[in-house]
Amino acid sequence: MKKVFIKSYGCQMNVYDAERMADVLAAEGYGQTGSVENADLVVLNTCHIREKAAEKVYSELGRIRVMKEERALEGRETKVVLAGCVAQAEGREIFRRAPVVDVVVGPQSYQNLPALLRAGRGALDTEFPADDKFDALPALEPARIKSRGVTAFLTVQEGCDKFCTFCVVPYTRGAEVSRSVARILDEAHRLADAGVREITLIGQNVNAFHGEGPDGSPWSLGRLLHALAEVPGIARLRYTTSHPRDMDEELIAAHRDLPALMPYLHLPVQAGSDRILAAMNRRHTADEYRRIIDRVRTARPDVALTSDFIVGFPGESDADFEATMRLVEDVRFAGAFSFKYSPRPGTPAADSADQVPEAVKSERLARLQERLEAHRQAFNHGTVGRTLDVLLEKAGRHPGQLAGKTPYLQMVQIDGAGRAVGDIVPVRIGAAGSNSLFGEAPAADGTWTEASAA
Ligand code: SAH
Ligand code: SF4
Ligand code: F3S
Repeated sequence: MKKVFIKSYGCQMNVYDAERMADVLAAEGYGQTGSVENADLVVLNTCHIREKAAEKVYSELGRIRVMKEERALEGRETKVVLAGCVAQAEGREIFRRAPVVDVVVGPQSYQNLPALLRAGRGALDTEFPADDKFDALPALEPARIKSRGVTAFLTVQEGCDKFCTFCVVPYTRGAEVSRSVARILDEAHRLADAGVREITLIGQNVNAFHGEGPDGSPWSLGRLLHALAEVPGIARLRYTTSHPRDMDEELIAAHRDLPALMPYLHLPVQAGSDRILAAMNRRHTADEYRRIIDRVRTARPDVALTSDFIVGFPGESDADFEATMRLVEDVRFAGAFSFKYSPRPGTPAADSADQVPEAVKSERLARLQERLEAHRQAFNHGTVGRTLDVLLEKAGRHPGQLAGKTPYLQMVQIDGAGRAVGDIVPVRIGAAGSNSLFGEAPAADGTWTEASAA
């Protein structure tokens, strides 16, 4: 059997797309391998969001070139596909910079992978077709779902019309498109029937979802979540990534009304200064963001909030940065991703004359991350002593242990005796390590057994 190695960079959309590509290629007779050396076909599913992410791809391609030459000496052919957002952004330029690449395919064209591979060297597809690409991809097969575990991503929306001035996504993923409710429900049923317990709805702007409902009218994300909560077998729902502008009343109310919707919200704010937020074209102020957070916390007081930050956006002054630090202290996030601003070709902010020096960016990032990390640790320590439901997902760190996630997406290790992956068990949180919690689950006889943190 021919073998394919797929590596994904970037966001969850790419993780989901990689699974869909694996499905298409399985229908073409490719089995998956975790080792690139054994691969007849290498697919790099790339990310263009920051310069580092995009450059990583070229160093990886350098390594693959050496491997391809070695395999050629042994008479074995290796095909290389460059997929994802770098493919979309750079197109034919990739063949020039990295001749090792055979095929370039953008995120909206994966259904055409088999045809592109048959066309061979130099084949490229970076179109944005009008219809749902997922319709043209093979339906999810139970055995393949099972092999991926009890949690799954489900793309409900793709693309973005927001055009934040720093961001490449509107160019690499195209305009905002929602899938129909019927297709999403069908996919959710397939996942649940194959043992999936938790579905994370994904989209670049997931809460801008407006897919066509069975009645022909557009449904909001809140309404979709209500319908998904009825799917037998699905115990947990999550969604990511949201934009503050699209946190509507129905979605906030879902956090109050739907027990299946986990008390967790990733809501990127990027900055705490109104001047910078305006320059970023985020179209909300810092106080508007604070008010949204208040409303979500009123609906679901225990909600864990996480966010994304950019430091050193063009024109960011010390005072602007202090406003970000104040927002962080006000909200106290349970976790966050933070980045130095990276100028991206083709985006308006990249052309600004007001670029912030690298040293200033580094200093601000370090200060911000110190506070974000302190708040993350405080959140985790705050759960010690509480009993939380944990969905067991996989083998744990030590023999006999199982690992799973709390509603707040914290990883917990417990003693696995008498438990199975897919179980949701009440776990008393005993200790918080830097990346994992350790907990005790009641044994079949009702006594509590502790997982060792050693
Ligand atoms: N759709 C989401 C985010 C998508 S990109 C939203 O609207 O927030 C994920 C994160 O990468 C962003 O939230 C932002 O923090 C970061 N990011 C995007 N472009 C960037 C750039 N040019 N430089 C640094 N960070 C960037
Ligand atoms: Fe990028 Fe802004 Fe769209 Fe998010 S909302 S994907 S940051 S343009
Ligand atoms: Fe990266 Fe594309 Fe996702 S640029 S973050 S892989 S949408």
